[in-house]
Amino acid sequence: MKALVFHGPGEKSWEEVPDPQLATPTDAIVRVDTTTICGTDLHILKGDVPAVTDGRVLGHEGVGTVVEVGSAVNGLREGDRVIISCISSCGSCSYCRQQLPSHCLADEGTSGIGWIFGHLIDGTQAEYVRVPFADTSLHRLPAGVSDEAALTLSDILPTGFEIGIRNGRVKPGDVVAVVGAGPVGLSAIMTAQLYGPSRVVAIDLDANRREVAKRFGATDEVDNSQDGWQDEVMAMTDGLGVDTAIEAVGIPQTFTMCTELIRPGGTVANVGVHGAPVELALQELWIKDVAVTTGLVSATTTPMLLRLVEQGRLQPEQFVTHRFRLDEMIDAYDTFTRAAETQAMKVAISR
Ligand SMILES: NC(=O)c1ccc[n+]([C@@H]2O[C@H](COP(=O)([O-])OP(=O)(O)OC[C@H]3O[C@@H](n4cnc5c(N)ncnc54)[C@H](O)[C@@H]3O)[C@@H](O)[C@H]2O)c1
Ligand SMILES: [Zn+2]
Ligand SMILES: [Zn+2]
Repeated sequence: MKALVFHGPGEKSWEEVPDPQLATPTDAIVRVDTTTICGTDLHILKGDVPAVTDGRVLGHEGVGTVVEVGSAVNGLREGDRVIISCISSCGSCSYCRQQLPSHCLADEGTSGIGWIFGHLIDGTQAEYVRVPFADTSLHRLPAGVSDEAALTLSDILPTGFEIGIRNGRVKPGDVVAVVGAGPVGLSAIMTAQLYGPSRVVAIDLDANRREVAKRFGATDEVDNSQDGWQDEVMAMTDGLGVDTAIEAVGIPQTFTMCTELIRPGGTVANVGVHGAPVELALQELWIKDVAVTTGLVSATTTPMLLRLVEQGRLQPEQFVTHRFRLDEMIDAYDTFTRAAETQAMKVAISR
């Protein structure tokens, strides 16, 4: 089969690799119908994720069709359409039983991390993929849900919801600020609506991203390159600050922005992946009763989000801005890498 193979920092190719085979009785083999590229894949290509080694097939998001199941797989059969979760979950270790499969302890890749596709084992940017723990890591897809909508349920929509909105304790009537309106920040903006906030403020340097945020449910947009942006946000509250501030960029500056916008008793929910230490003004935050949360997505809310998509309550197919065939993978990477120019949000790459 053909797959997108990582060959060290800056090096990748769409090339012939051996077809994946069942390795354990709980595996399934899935034909990839639609896959996509995540900002994390770009981090890997920069060399920021050393655990990814030469020869690894990248990708941790996708929708496909089951073509083979191991003898211990009970809930799936050949021909089932499935969402491939970015988190692999054995379903039985202590973390999986605590609904925290992001730290699954099972013996695939390296124990202690649920994100293994395109990281510790071969991923979804390929014609076929081996899926460990198939019963607990794949979600059967109802006929009415398109591949493009379902694609967002592998990673970005559960990430924005679980690590942004749910960790951020968003409640009816709240004012929520989201710093960074990329696919993850927009997922938080979209799923904030489930809790009925009074205002959702999208803060980003990029005018196009702020415009898109309005279509995804933001009530207000703020350009933080302009002087006085902070006063603009404060004027949208009672002057005391926002109830929840969600960091969806992953740099020290934007984390600090969140801690400066938060009201007493509020929650700063960090979603961004940070590569450098961040200063935490604990001397100011403690007396404001501010909570700071962090997290790696567990994707345990994928079934719930899928029900909302099936009923048309969420319409995440809007994320897809560009479409490619699998054998145009390199072009898809090029378009996604130049997102500021191409205005790419999510690229759908289909067979
Ligand atoms: N915690 C998790 O489980 C998890 C899962 C997936 C992704 N992530 C992380 O979430 C973050 C967001 O992911 P994404 O794919 O949406 O990223 P992205 O790079 O596509 O989007 C980031 C957005 O932030 C904006 N931005 C950049 N610098 C800014 C600044 N100084 N002020 C305001 N806005 C700024 C950009 O214009 C862009 O719109 C990344 O750090 C990613 O690694 C975390
Ligand atoms: Zn991802
Ligand atoms: Zn587990």
